[in-house]
Amino acid sequence: MILALTGASGFVGRHVIKAAVRRGYEVIAFSRDPSRSVGDCVEMRRFSHDAPLDLNGCEAVIHLAGENVAGLWTRGKMQRIRDSRVQGTRRVVEGIRALAEPPEVFVSASAIGYYGDCGDKELTEQSLPGTDFLAETCLAWERESATPLCRVVNPRIGHVLGDGGMLGLMRPLFRLCLGGRLGNGRQWMPWIHVEDLAEMLLFAIGNLDVRGPLNATAPWPVRNADFTKAFARALHRPAFFHAPAWALRLVLREFSAELLSSKRVLPAVATEHGFGFRFPELTPALNDIVH
Ligand SMILES: NC(=O)c1ccc[n+]([C@@H]2O[C@H](COP(=O)([O-])OP(=O)(O)OC[C@H]3O[C@@H](n4cnc5c(N)ncnc54)[C@H](OP(=O)(O)O)[C@@H]3O)[C@@H](O)[C@H]2O)c1
Repeated sequence: MILALTGASGFVGRHVIKAAVRRGYEVIAFSRDPSRSVGDCVEMRRFSHDAPLDLNGCEAVIHLAGENVAGLWTRGKMQRIRDSRVQGTRRVVEGIRALAEPPEVFVSASAIGYYGDCGDKELTEQSLPGTDFLAETCLAWERESATPLCRVVNPRIGHVLGDGGMLGLMRPLFRLCLGGRLGNGRQWMPWIHVEDLAEMLLFAIGNLDVRGPLNATAPWPVRNADFTKAFARALHRPAFFHAPAWALRLVLREFSAELLSSKRVLPAVATEHGFGFRFPELTPALNDIVH
């Protein structure tokens, strides 16, 4: 299997390369800077927002590229978050359209931001989209990936736990005993271990019955306060602090919604198709990452 992978240089992409190579796939990695080295790939190709991707010879595509959402959401940053996903996905679909023989499957990332802020309501792939900036971005991102030329899967990815991403940002604070819950801590936080995510993306490639939205989250989401306690425990640190919602809104502006909104997302499709999580529960996942 020859796999095209965008976002290969990113936190998730690096783990997908390792998992794919373990299975004997050959990975063609796409980057805005194809001169960079991103692990065990057979070839690097250019990812450009100005031209269709060259997907010649690729049998499956995983598309992860997009502006990182962490940080202060200025107008420019929000524009880049949306445009990099919508236009980037358009370029991938144009690349698929240009092939005489399209790939069998196109796995195009999305995120749990799709659902908006839903309190304690359980959310499956059938649930309706929210109306905030991230929800609208995810909806536009998924719509852009639609093509009749191959099977399309949209993994709606939860907070990815591993050696980068959210924990990479939180770990130094927690190590300094500056960790704490966000807002009232009651918001649900769907999470997934990065190795389970990499396996789930490959599972989506190999399982012909999986198509459309696929919640890429562990089966046991937790509330932010419980997540905070579990992470502090894994690091053997206390978590006294509490970042009030008003302060997060003041400092982080719209990005605060990403941290304060509640999404009790369940991986209904993955479970129905028999995906086996290595880390279904939070504490073993955190211990694996931290130790
Ligand atoms: N990590 C999470 O917790 C999480 C949660 C939900 C959804 N997701 C989604 O999963 C995907 C991968 O996440 P990740 O954490 O691996 O992201 P990441 O570490 O930020 O990597 C994303 C990759 O996209 C490329 N990229 C960055 N800015 C870009 C831009 N403006 N235009 C085009 N390409 C750009 C970069 O590759 P080059 O520099 O090599 O081009 C980068 O390596 C993203 O689409 C993200 O939205 C992640």
